[in-house]
Parts: sequence; C-alpha cells; structure tokens
Amino acid sequence: MGKTWNIAVIPGDGIGPEVIAEGIKVLNRIAELDGSFRFDFTYFPWGCEYYLKHGKMMDDDGLEKLRGFDAIYLGAVGFPGVPDHISLWDLLLKIRKGFEQYVNLRPIKLLAGAPCPLKDVAREQIDMLVIRENTEGEYAGAGDWLFRGKPEEVVLQTGVFSRKGTERIIRYAYETARKTGRSLTSISKGNALNYSMVFWDQIFAEIGREYPDVKTSSYLVDAASMFFVKQPERFEIVVTSNLFGDILTDLGAAIAGGLGLAAGANLNPERIYPSMFEPVHGSAPDIAGKGIANPLAAIWSASQMLEFFGYSEWADRVLQSIEQVMVEGSALTPDMGGASTTQEVGTRVAYQLSELV
Ligand code: NAI
Ligand code: MG
Repeated sequence: MGKTWNIAVIPGDGIGPEVIAEGIKVLNRIAELDGSFRFDFTYFPWGCEYYLKHGKMMDDDGLEKLRGFDAIYLGAVGFPGVPDHISLWDLLLKIRKGFEQYVNLRPIKLLAGAPCPLKDVAREQIDMLVIRENTEGEYAGAGDWLFRGKPEEVVLQTGVFSRKGTERIIRYAYETARKTGRSLTSISKGNALNYSMVFWDQIFAEIGREYPDVKTSSYLVDAASMFFVKQPERFEIVVTSNLFGDILTDLGAAIAGGLGLAAGANLNPERIYPSMFEPVHGSAPDIAGKGIANPLAAIWSASQMLEFFGYSEWADRVLQSIEQVMVEGSALTPDMGGASTTQEVGTRVAYQLSELV
C-alpha cells in the first residue's frame, strides 16, 4: 500500500480554493503515477467567510488540530469586509509563528516560457533562492500606540531580532549554500538600522567562519533591489529579514513570471511541526469566482512540498511540466496572455506529467 502523507488543506478565500484544487489534482496524479505513496487530504474551512460567521479566522484549538499533519497546503486568506491585519495575524502568522516555520523559501527562477518584463535577460540570469526570516524581525508585532487620536499621538513598531532567531535562519542559509554549491548573499541595512541590522551583519560574519567554503557577499537592501532588476545573476542563495524578504520576493516574482507563478514554503526544518506550502499571491477578490486564476503558483508550491518530503525527482518533473505547458502556450490563464480556465491549466499540467514518465 505504501506511505500515506496526511495533508491539512486550508483553501481559504477568493481564488484560494480555485488554485488549491489544481495543486491537489497534480499531487494525486503523481501519487497515481508513482504508486509507492498516496495523499490523504483533510479540509479546514477557515478564513474570512468563517470569520464572518463565527467571529474568528480559525478554531481556538486550530493549531492543535493541525499539529499531527505531515504538511499544510494553503490557498490564500483575506477578503473585503475583514480587515487585512486580522486575516493575516489570526491565521497565517499564527501558523507560521506557532509552528516555528522560521524559514520562508521563495524560489525566484525564470522558467522556460515564463513572461519576463526585463529586456535582454537570459533565462539563466534569474535563478535564485530567497530565504526569508519568517517568525520575528520587523513582523514580530512588538510596539505600542499611545495617546490614540490626541495631538501627542505616538506609534512604535519595534523590530525584534533574537540571537537564536537570527542565527538559525542564517545557519540554514549557509547550509543550503554549502549543499547546493552556490554563493550566499545577505541583504540588510546596517547603515540606517543601527541596532538590528548591525547585529544581523555581525551574525552573518560570525557564522560564516564555520563555512569557509561558501562564497559570500552582503548588500544593502536598496542597492539589492536595484540589482534584482539590473543584474539578477548576482544572486544565487539570498538570506534576509522578514520585511525585506517580503518586499524583495514580490519584486522577484515580478521579474520571474509574475504573481501567478510565485511559490513559497514555510518550513520548520527540524520537522517538529508541520510545514506550510502556499502560493505567494493573495485571494485576488477582483477575479475570484471567475475560474480564471492562474494555478501555476499553487502547483509550484505543491512541488516544494514534494521536495520537502524527499521526492526531488517528482518536484523537478512538476516544474518541467509547468515549463512545457508555458512553452507550448496551449493552456494559459489571461494573466499570461491566454484564454484558458484555472481547471484547464491544472489538467494540462497533470497530463504533461504522464508524458514525462
Ligand atoms: P493579490 O495577490 O490577491 O492580487 C494582486 C493582483 O494580482 C490582482 O490584480 C490579482 O487579480 C492578481 N493575481 C493574484 N494572484 C493571481 C493568480 N493566481 N492569477 C491571476 N492573477 C492573480 O493581492 P492584493 O490584491 O493586494 O490582496 C488581496 C487580498 O489578499 C487582501 O485581503 C490581502 O490581505 C490578501 N493577501 C493574502 C496573502 C496570503 O494569504 N498569503 C498574500 C497577499 C495578500
Ligand atoms: Mg507579501
């Protein structure tokens, strides 16, 4: 019978359920083709609709319920009518922090056939892996709001960089660079952020002494964003803070095929808790319910899940299938200039997989 992987599915809001269905189609197809493992999916109806009915984004014991799964597969959360800071903090960030998913892995790789807005850029020039700190930093939620509405009103939003948190993300990045034989770039801002980023740079150098074989460089985030556009080939493995990683990976998504293709994994590398796989994009209320959302980002994040489970060959084949479909141009959603539906694209990728075996 083989191995069963138990996956918690949180389709979420807007286009979330539409794209997740296609990722699941692909995962099931792979299990069928492989024969040595299968997936068991358990659905959780959490998100903004749930919030409007029950006054909360997820059940109070939501983390308990998710705890025993091998992975979480999430669509997107957020919808007009529920403030974004509630939908983000009470579901996504709760899971990322509660399950110590301190690594946010975002591949920025220009696949064959993907649209690229940059002139004269060869495909090989955009091939990086951004490792974003995912549990603290600028998104720690530390601060205060004093004298609300009064003339002396003051708000404080404090970045939190613990030694443990900073060391573990930077160490993970060095390990990844060593394993893949690629260079490592740290992106920070030590000139202006004179506590947090000086500390970050210091730890990057400290840990670097244990990895003399890894070639490193450091950039200020403003310069780095310029080079993302002008010379993306400078970057291979990139490690950066929560806020900088958030912004840089949207920029990265823009140069590597758009939001419809951008995937992200939230990893608990120690595997004490389940890791979570999700497309980078949001719930896209403007196109929700029309069946035209691009499922490729969700499918790519399913490929990251396969990689995490140790099925690297299948993970690669999913990317190859996505490339085939884009190169042929036979099934593309409108954001990529096509006229196909979400389901048609998913079916096409799943079909292409069988061709590769
Ligand atoms: P968004 O990513 O939902 O949409 C931005 C633009 O990209 C829209 O024009 C949308 O139609 C397009 N787009 C996004 N994904 C697409 C896809 N798969 N195929 C085709 N077009 C796609 O970001 P926006 O509009 O800023 O946020 C909408 C809601 O999503 C908000 O409530 C926000 O808080 C939430 N959000 C949730 C995220 C998550 O769950 N991880 C991430 C980002 C936003
Ligand atoms: Mg973002």
